[in-house]
Amino acid sequence: MKAKTFYIETFGCQMNELDSEKAAGLLHARGLCKVASPAEADLVLINTCSVREKAESKVYTRLGELKRLKKERGLLVGVLGCVAQQMGEEMLERSSVADLVVGTHRLHQLPDLVQQVEEEGGRLAQTFFDDAPAPMEIEHVLRESRVRAYVTIMEGCDKSCTFCIVPFTRGRERNRPSDRILDEVHRLADEGYCEILLLGQNVNSYADPSPCGWKFPRLLQAVAQVPGIRRVRFTSPHPIDLSFELIDVINDTPTVCDQVHLPVQSGSDRVLRRMKRLYNRQFYLERVRALKRSPRNIALSTDIIVGFPGETRQDFRDTLSLMDELGYDFVFSFKYSARPRTPALKLKDGVPEEEKAARLLELQEKQKQIQLLLNQRYLGQTVEVLVEGEAKTRWRWSGRTSKNKIVNFDGPGGLMGRFAWVRIEGFGPNSLHGMGVSEPIEIKELVTTERSAPRSDWLQIRR
Ligand code: SAH
Ligand code: F3S
Repeated sequence: MKAKTFYIETFGCQMNELDSEKAAGLLHARGLCKVASPAEADLVLINTCSVREKAESKVYTRLGELKRLKKERGLLVGVLGCVAQQMGEEMLERSSVADLVVGTHRLHQLPDLVQQVEEEGGRLAQTFFDDAPAPMEIEHVLRESRVRAYVTIMEGCDKSCTFCIVPFTRGRERNRPSDRILDEVHRLADEGYCEILLLGQNVNSYADPSPCGWKFPRLLQAVAQVPGIRRVRFTSPHPIDLSFELIDVINDTPTVCDQVHLPVQSGSDRVLRRMKRLYNRQFYLERVRALKRSPRNIALSTDIIVGFPGETRQDFRDTLSLMDELGYDFVFSFKYSARPRTPALKLKDGVPEEEKAARLLELQEKQKQIQLLLNQRYLGQTVEVLVEGEAKTRWRWSGRTSKNKIVNFDGPGGLMGRFAWVRIEGFGPNSLHGMGVSEPIEIKELVTTERSAPRSDWLQIRR
C-alpha cells in the first residue's frame, strides 16, 4: 500500500468506537501507522453516525474542513459507518472530498479497498450487505484503552422502533459464537484488561449460534468468570429482553458492575406504543424494581427522546414523572430527529422545534437536580475506582466506580489501570472528586480476595 500513516475520527456510539479500533487494527496489520492528526496522515478516515440528523450533518462539515488539506497533501479520505452505509454512492456525489465510502458490513475489506483506490485511482463506494454476511471475527483490533476493552457479541437489530435508523444501517441481528467471545475475553485478560464492555445494538437479545445455544444471561455469567476480569458491563439492552433470569445473573455475579443502562425513550404508554417499543410503563417499572430489589443498589441510566410526533404536554409530563419515580443516575436525552426510511416519518402531529427544545431543556434541568442529589450522598464515602487516565481537570487521576460514576482525584503516581480507594470530598452533577486514601492494591491481589470471598463480605468491601 502507498499510504504509510492513517488518522481516524469517530462519531457516535461505542459500537462505532470499536469499529474504529477494528479498522485501525486492520490497517496496522498491513503496515500502516496510526497518527494523532490529519495533518500527519496519508489516509484520513471518518467513522460516522446517522442516528440523528445533527450527527449526520457533522460528517459533511468535517469533509469540508478536510478539503484544503487534501489539496495540499493529496491525502486519501474514506468514510465509514452508518452514514456511509445509508448514503453509499450518493455520498461521493454530495462531497468531492471523499474518495472511499465503506459500509458497515464491508469494514473487513477496508485495507483492500484503500489499495484498490490507490492503484486504480478514481473513487469507490462499497456498501452491500445482504448477499455475503461480513465475518464477525476480526483478528486485529488496535485498542484505545489499556484498561477497558470493548467486545462485540452481536450486531444489528431485528426490532423496529419507529424512530430508529439502526436496523437499516446495521442490518439484521447476527450473533458471535460464545466460544469465540470467551476466547477473546481470555486473551484480553492475559493482556491485562480488567474491564470488559459487551456490545450489541440489542445486546440482551443475544442468541448463541453454536450448538450450546446460550442466551445472554449465560454468556454474561461466563464472561464474568474469566480469571482476571474484574468488571463486566454491557450495552445496550432492550427492556423487553430484560428477563428475570438476566436480572438474577446481574444481582448474583459480583464482577457484573452495579450499573445497567436501560433505554426507556418515554414515560408515556401512548408514545411508547407509537414508537413500537413493545413494552409499557408498567412493564418497564416492574423490571427496574426487580433490578433494584437487590442489596447491590444498581445504578440506572437511560435514553429519552422528547418531541416524538404526537407527544403532548401530558405525555411529556409522564416522562418527567417517571424520572422522579426512578431517580436515574444518568440520562442521555435527545430531541426527536426524523430519519430516512423510518416508519415515524409517516406519523402526523410533529412537535414544533421550539417546543422540542423547551422540553429538552426542562428535562435536562430536572435530571441535573436529580444527579446533584444522588451525588451529594457520596460525600464522605470511600469508593473503589478503576483508574482510566489522567484527569483533564485540576485533579491528577480520573476513573470510574462500578456504578459508572466518574471520579477525579489526587493520589500518588503510577495508578493508571489500577484500582484505588478514593474518599469523596466534592461533587458536581456529572462527577465526584476526592482524595486517594491508601496505597493502591495490585489487581491480582484483589482478584483473589474478591473471588474467594463469600458474597456478603464482598458487599461489605464495596459499601
Ligand atoms: N439499541 C441501540 C440504540 C441506538 S440509538 C443501541 O444502543 O445500540 C441510541 C439512542 O439514540 C436511542 O436509544 C434513542 O434514545 C436515540 N435515538 C435513536 N433514534 C433517534 C431519533 N430518530 N431521534 C432522536 N433520538 C434517537
Ligand atoms: Fe433502534 Fe429500537 Fe433496535 S432503538 S437499535 S430499533 S431496539
